[in-house]
Amino acid sequence: MRNALSVASECAPLVKTGGLADVVGALPGALAAQDWKLRTLLPGYPAVMKVLGRKGSEVWSDDALMGGPARVIAAKVAGVDLLILDAPHLYDREGSIYLGPDGRDWTDNPERFAALSWVAARIAVEGIKDWRPEVLHLHDWQAALTPIYLREMEASHQVGTLLTIHNIAFHGMAPVARLKDLRLPQWGFHPDGFEYYGQINALKAGLVFADKLSTVSPTYARELMLPDFGMGLDGVLRARQADLVGILNGIDETVWNPQTDPQVSRYKSPKRKAENRTALITELGLAAKDGPLAVVISRLTHQKGLDVLLQALPAFVERGGQVAMLGSGEAELEKAWLKAADTMPEVSVHIGYNDELSHRLMAGGDAVIVPSRFEPCGLTQLYGLRYGTIPVVALTGGLADTIIPANDAAITAGVATGLQFHPVNAGALSGALLQLCDLYADKPVWDRMQRNAMRHPVGWAASAPRYAALYESLGSST
Ligand code: ADP
Ligand code: GLC
Repeated sequence: MRNALSVASECAPLVKTGGLADVVGALPGALAAQDWKLRTLLPGYPAVMKVLGRKGSEVWSDDALMGGPARVIAAKVAGVDLLILDAPHLYDREGSIYLGPDGRDWTDNPERFAALSWVAARIAVEGIKDWRPEVLHLHDWQAALTPIYLREMEASHQVGTLLTIHNIAFHGMAPVARLKDLRLPQWGFHPDGFEYYGQINALKAGLVFADKLSTVSPTYARELMLPDFGMGLDGVLRARQADLVGILNGIDETVWNPQTDPQVSRYKSPKRKAENRTALITELGLAAKDGPLAVVISRLTHQKGLDVLLQALPAFVERGGQVAMLGSGEAELEKAWLKAADTMPEVSVHIGYNDELSHRLMAGGDAVIVPSRFEPCGLTQLYGLRYGTIPVVALTGGLADTIIPANDAAITAGVATGLQFHPVNAGALSGALLQLCDLYADKPVWDRMQRNAMRHPVGWAASAPRYAALYESLGSST
């Protein structure tokens, strides 16, 4: 087996705010079958330290890592081979891993994740015990300073770096006055380095200095190079086009499996979904109706387009549709959804994060709506496919790459797996939801779509070899 180190700020099932955690948690299993052994470097947040308990052994330490003592503990936790960066001054605090009690980023986020990146580079250069990675797989801005630290530490370039962009909306900005504190070299602070409008931009550092770049779907890889999607970094990505690939995410097929899911009445064929639908309607206090029950499981942010869905709700409900929404995030959106539930008995809203309910929604719903303005990959439409819960998605990013839309040609050929709409506005989404009502009423077509959906491959079988090939190209280039 060859060795790689994956570096990230989240990893399921230990600490998760979104799909990044699922992917980081799933990669080691997916890559093991490709002969790559991954260890994952993760901050020692309270949730991680609690599960760790007294397990593990110290493999590295430093008295002064960006303002305090730090150590790395190696342990197998929840099935994942972890290197945990225990640095209480950076990570031992309650609440969100990114935000303080005031709902804003922790002011020392630049240091918190620069430390993670710095330690990753150190481990790559020095190794720990008998172990040293050939490749560093870095995820998002929190790990993106690693390649520049590596340049500073390595006498000659030995360890290959891959930066995966899960979401380009977050850059990891810091004022230039923090350059020294962040241990960054002055020579990199220019427009062709990590300078961005007079500030330090961690993600840009990775985009410029990592050996290879990837993102989580082929369509998003193309979109990233356009001004509408690149969030100010599209020019940097165009310059690195030759080194950028899109590799689709898979889902954990053991966690999301309707045949074994402990949260639901288990089923193999779409017909057996009915029991879950009835149970869900009872649980949510919805009336039994003939129209489709659509579910939403999402962070409530501008990205996800759920303000647009709010506008499309009245027409859908009028045609007999019902909606169950589970989500949390921006206060305005939470309020607006609660108001919709108050005024429309066909709409059920749960504000909060609830893993178990998310499984019951997926099993009991007829459709899952994902109206994102941009979506690097998206996982919930993949769960929908697996559970025979028809995805209604915006034509963007990974949503475009994973659904076969029910246009006339696809219906005639019997291959459709979902519905797609474009652009993301109330008119286009309402159109798709009305089409959903029509398809739902057409039993033979609906049954066919559900069967197609459940057969669509959503695991890692296709993508794991692509990551392995990328690692290979990095490992052997040294
Ligand atoms: P993103 O990473 O942008 O949030 P993804 O679709 O890739 O989008 O991943 C979201 C993940 O978070 C999925 O596993 C989804 O089920 C989960 N999720 C989002 N919101 C909630 C919630 N309120 N309760 C439970 N799970 C949630
Ligand atoms: C990001 C994206 C989402 C993607 C996930 C995992 O959070 O918003 O589309 O599925 O990362 O790669």
